[in-house]
Amino acid sequence: MSQQITTASGIPVADNQNSASAGSRGPLLLQDFHLIEKLQHFNRERIPERVVHAKGSGAYGKFTVTHDITRYTKAKLFSAIGKETETFLRFSTVGGEKGSADTERDPRGFAVRFYTEEGNWDLVGNNTPVFFIKDGIKFPDFIHTQKRLAQSNLKSPTAMFDFWSKAPESLHQVTTLFSSRGTPDGYRHMDGFGSHTFSLINDAGERVYVKWHFKTQQGIKNLTAADAVRLAGEDPDYAQRDLFNAIAAGDFPRWTVYVQTATEAELAAWEQRTGWNPFDLTKVWPHGDFPLQQVGVLELNRNPLNYHAEVEQAALSPANVVPGMGYSPDKMLQARLFAYHDAQLYRVGTNHQHLPVNAPRCPFHNQQRDGAMALANGGAEQNYATVDAAGTNPQGLGHGEPALALNGPAARYDGRGVEDDYTQAGNLFRLLPADEKQALFDNLAGPLSQVPDEIVFRQLAHFDQADAAYGAGVRAALKARGRNVD
Ligand code: HEM
Repeated sequence: MSQQITTASGIPVADNQNSASAGSRGPLLLQDFHLIEKLQHFNRERIPERVVHAKGSGAYGKFTVTHDITRYTKAKLFSAIGKETETFLRFSTVGGEKGSADTERDPRGFAVRFYTEEGNWDLVGNNTPVFFIKDGIKFPDFIHTQKRLAQSNLKSPTAMFDFWSKAPESLHQVTTLFSSRGTPDGYRHMDGFGSHTFSLINDAGERVYVKWHFKTQQGIKNLTAADAVRLAGEDPDYAQRDLFNAIAAGDFPRWTVYVQTATEAELAAWEQRTGWNPFDLTKVWPHGDFPLQQVGVLELNRNPLNYHAEVEQAALSPANVVPGMGYSPDKMLQARLFAYHDAQLYRVGTNHQHLPVNAPRCPFHNQQRDGAMALANGGAEQNYATVDAAGTNPQGLGHGEPALALNGPAARYDGRGVEDDYTQAGNLFRLLPADEKQALFDNLAGPLSQVPDEIVFRQLAHFDQADAAYGAGVRAALKARGRNVD
C-alpha cells in the first residue's frame, strides 16, 4: 500500500485527486483546506536562486589526511594522518540561471565544506587559480556584464569585452576561460582551487600564508567548443547527470589535496623580485617558487537525497574558517567575507545555519535567538551573555594569530597601468600546446567578432602585450571570420 497522504499538519487526507465542489460541475468549496494548502505551498516552492553560481550539483564525501601539516596549522582536522572529516561539495557554473546549460563556457564553482569538530570550514573556490578582478567593488559590474542586458534581456559579448578590455587584470582569467579549460567535461575531470591566499596558524602562534589546490584523480578532460554547444542542447544537465550517476554507481571521484605555503618574509622577497602582490587574486604563485605539498585526499561518495533541501539551500561562506586558519589582506577575499552570509540571510533566511546541510556537526552555542524558522533556538538556555569571558574559548578562532602589519595610508588605490597584468597571462599562453593555442584564438574570435571595433582593438592590445603571438593569433582568427582588424 502506498504511504498515507496527510496535510502538512499530519491530518490524513481522504481524497488527493478530486477537489470538493458544489455539485459535480460546480465551483470549488473554500473549506477544501487540503486543496488550498496544496496550491499555496506550490506557489511558494521557489527560493531566490543564487545571484551567481545558480546552476549547481552537490555531493557528500570525506577528506582524509595523508601528510602531516601540523607544523603549519593547529586546525584539528589535520591533527593525525588517516583522520577523516565529512565533507559536502557543490559544483556550479557562474553566470547562467538555475536552468542554464552545464556546458556553458564559464568558470566552475568548487565549493567544499568540511564538517570539522571545531565547526564548518568552507573553501568556496573555483576550477581556476585566479579571477577576473582584484577588487570586490568591481564584482557587481563585472557580473552584470555576464548576465542579461537591461533592455533586451539578452547576453552580450559587447558588454563582456567592454568590461574586460578596460580591466587588463582580467587577461589571465580571460585566457583561462577561452582555453579548453573554459568548457570542462563535467565536474569530475577538473581541478579545484581555493584561489585566494589564506593563512594557517600553528601551535606556536606562527603564521604561514597558504593556497589550496585540489587535483583531479580522474584526469583533466575538457569539451571542444563544438561539443559544449551541442551538449547544451542535447543534455543541458550533462555535468549533474555525470556526477550523480558516477556516485550512484560507486565510481567515487577523488581529488588529491595540496597546499602551497609561504612565510610573510618569503612573500616579501618574492614580491621584491617579481613585482607581483602575493595577495592579488589575478596572480598565481608559480609552483617553481612555492612547490605543492600534499595534504590529503577528498572523495565524493554520497548523493544527497533531496536536491532542494541539501543543495539549493546549502549556504557556504569563505568567512567560515576554523581555529588554526585565518584570512589574508587579499581585497577580493575581504569583500567576500561580507558578501556570502549577507546573500544567504536574504536567499535562505535568518536561520540558514540551522538547516541540516548547513548546521555544524559539532555542538554549537551562542545567544543568537528567534527569527523565522528557528529550528535550533537554544531551548531553555539563557539568551544573553554577561560581560565577562564566560563561555568563550581562549583557544578559539584567532587565538595566537600574530598581529598583521599594515602598510600605507588609507585611500583608494588604482593598480591599472602600475601593476603588471600581462606577464602571467603571457606565461599561461606560452604553456599551451599549438592546438590549444588555436582553440583559444577561435574561442575568442567567436564572441569578439560580434563586438564593435573600438572594443576589439582595445582587447587586442592586451593580447599583444601578453605575447605578440597571442595578438597575432586572435587577429588571424578574426580575419578568418571576415573581420577586418588591420
Ligand atoms: C557564490 C559573491 C568572488 C566562488 C556567490 C554568492 C555571492 C557571491 C553573493 C551567492 C552565495 C549564496 O547565495 O549562497 C561574490 C563576491 C565576490 C565573489 C562579492 C567578489 C568580491 C568569488 C570568487 C570565487 C567565488 C573569487 C572563487 C574563487 C563562488 C562559488 C559560489 C559563489 C563557488 C557558489 C557557492 C555554492 O556552491 O553555494 N558569490 N563572489 N566567488 N561564489 Fe562568489
